[in-house]
Amino acid sequence: MKNIRDQERCWDELAGEKEFPTPFLSESFAKHVEKEMNILDVGCGYGRTLNELHNYGFKNLIGVDFSDAMIKRGLGSYPYLNLIKTDGEKLPFQDNEFDSVILIGVLTSNVRTIKQEKLINEISRVLRNNGILYLSDFLLNHDERNLKRYAKYEDKYGIYGVFELPEGLILRHHTVEHILELTNNYEKLLFEKTVFRTMNGNISNGFYYLGRKK
Ligand SMILES: C[S@@+](CC[C@H](N)C(=O)[O-])C[C@H]1O[C@@H](n2cnc3c(N)ncnc32)[C@H](O)[C@@H]1O
Repeated sequence: MKNIRDQERCWDELAGEKEFPTPFLSESFAKHVEKEMNILDVGCGYGRTLNELHNYGFKNLIGVDFSDAMIKRGLGSYPYLNLIKTDGEKLPFQDNEFDSVILIGVLTSNVRTIKQEKLINEISRVLRNNGILYLSDFLLNHDERNLKRYAKYEDKYGIYGVFELPEGLILRHHTVEHILELTNNYEKLLFEKTVFRTMNGNISNGFYYLGRKK
């Protein structure tokens, strides 16, 4: 398994060229999170979701990403946003500091379940009780191209749904059960299956999730 620094380098190399098209459910989010609340976007990329929230009237926004190049691109495009490079593990914030945390398309590139659990635990640490988690990511697909790559990489990674991209990224598509297990410390407010366009222009199953920290 390539280590976290390899994945960080891959994202750095992609920062200049990729657009992330996953839609953000701002209306659903705004039903649970008020405009003055503190919001953290983990794995914020070049800040497009925070910029959407900024335009929607949200005021207290912070984004973190382990890719320096993503952060630089974000600050270039949206200089008024607060975007910080982190180490990909520890969040540089105090316990209960945020009213809401956003995690979009990040589980997919942290493929080990233990890594995903650590990420969610760290998010739960900085999110206050009754705080809102907005999560969106990829689900397993059933078309020939995906079935072939899931089968090819299952032995190597020991997880069905993991595959490598030519760019060097290792990604995971998930079962619904896995996502619900990861979020079992949250009260599920919304779970909606959808079909996304990926950053490479393909189609993939995905989901939107909103949960309240118990
Ligand atoms: C598919 S992109 C999505 C970016 C953003 N959430 C969006 O939807 O526009 C995944 C992002 O997560 C970042 N990332 C992946 N694992 C991370 C980790 N453990 N800590 C911080 N950032 C991470 C990558 O650098 C990349 O910018």
